[in-house]
This record gives sequence, structure tokens and C-alpha cells, in this order.
Amino acid sequence: MNQNEQDLDIFPLIKKRWSPRAFSKQEIEESKILSLLEAARWSPSASNEQPWRFVIGRRGDEKYQKIYEALDNWNKAWIREIPPVLILNLTKKHTMHSGRVNPTAEYDLGQAVFAMVLEALHLGLIAHEMSGFDHKKILELLDLSDEYEPVSVTVFGYHGDDKQLPDDYYRQEHRVRERKPIEDLLL
Ligand SMILES: Cc1cc2nc3c(=O)[nH]c(=O)nc-3n(C[C@H](O)[C@H](O)[C@H](O)COP(=O)(O)O)c2cc1C
Repeated sequence: MNQNEQDLDIFPLIKKRWSPRAFSKQEIEESKILSLLEAARWSPSASNEQPWRFVIGRRGDEKYQKIYEALDNWNKAWIREIPPVLILNLTKKHTMHSGRVNPTAEYDLGQAVFAMVLEALHLGLIAHEMSGFDHKKILELLDLSDEYEPVSVTVFGYHGDDKQLPDDYYRQEHRVRERKPIEDLLL
């Protein structure tokens, strides 16, 4: 079955989500940034450990600059310090309860980040997740302990004009989004 032919009627924000690269320079209201964090905060996690941690960079501040600096060239080339907010998503590696390595820390963080992404859409924002950055460098630049594992960076902002994107990225922006058919997901 062709996935495009079986587009089922799912929760509208899940259906609406995609990963745009055309951001505008418009600032995000502080109340909206707080809502993103609140959405993450109420995510589920194993033993309620809440192992997610975030570093928020607002364009023009030192944290933004450091997160941007650690991105790989592919990501720097479309971001170009245009989007107003970059959030570094990290896990706390060991549990509060036993001090052992938390085996579901990244799983829990992923759920929290997805909650932020859906909240962003709900607030009229767009979001793009990335893992293309230098993990060691980002810890050093931000002077963070290796108790924290940097996993991804999410770009948040308002949708901008896609014509300002470099050619390669403009083409990506208009690509047909592909997915495996449901049958391929079932073992
Ligand atoms: C963990 C993760 C890492 C990603 N890393 C990057 C990245 O470094 N650069 C980028 O441009 N997009 C990145 N993406 C976006 C994916 O390429 C995108 O989600 C995928 O192609 C599916 O497209 P869609 O989100 O529009 O449905 C990443 C997404 C996830 C979830």
C-alpha cells in the first residue's frame, strides 16, 4: 500500500508537523518559551526521573552563540543565526534514586522534546530538531559537566520566507516527504 494513499485522519498537530528551515527573525515571546518548557515538564518518564535538561539560547546572547558555534556546517548554512531560539536538549545520565546509569534517559528526553514541538505548533511557532553538532565541543563551550549528555538541538521560531534559503535547502524545503508504509513497521 502506498503511504500517501493511506494518510489516515490523525491528531491534527501531528499531521501538521514537519521540519522547515525557513525561519523568520521574529522574536518568540517569553511566555511562549515558558509554555514550551511547561510542555516538556509534564512529559512521562521512567520512575518519574525527568532526566531532561535544556540550555536556551536566545539570538544575540552568549548561549545562542555557543550552541551555533558547535553546529556542523550543513546546519550552520541554513540557520545563519536567523531563528530566534536554539534549545540544546540534554539528559542527566544517572538516576536521582540509585545513582545508576538511567537506561531510558534519551527515550524520556525524546518524548519531552516532542511535547515541546507539538506545543510550539499549537502556539503558531515552527520547530526543527537537529543532531548535527559536535557533542564534545558543545559541553566544553557551555562549560557543562559530562554528567549531562547533549542529544539534540531544537530550532524554534516563526515561519519565514523560504526564498531566503540557499538553493540546496530551498529544494529540500519543497521535497515530497516520504515514509515507510505501516506494514514495514510491523515485525
Ligand atoms: C534526532 C533528529 C536529528 C535530526 N538532525 C537534523 C540535522 O542535523 N539537520 C537537519 O537539517 N535536520 C535534522 N533532522 C530533521 C530530519 O531530517 C527530519 O525530521 C526528517 O527528514 C523527516 O522530515 P519531517 O520532520 O519534515 O517529517 C533531525 C531530526 C531528528 C528527529
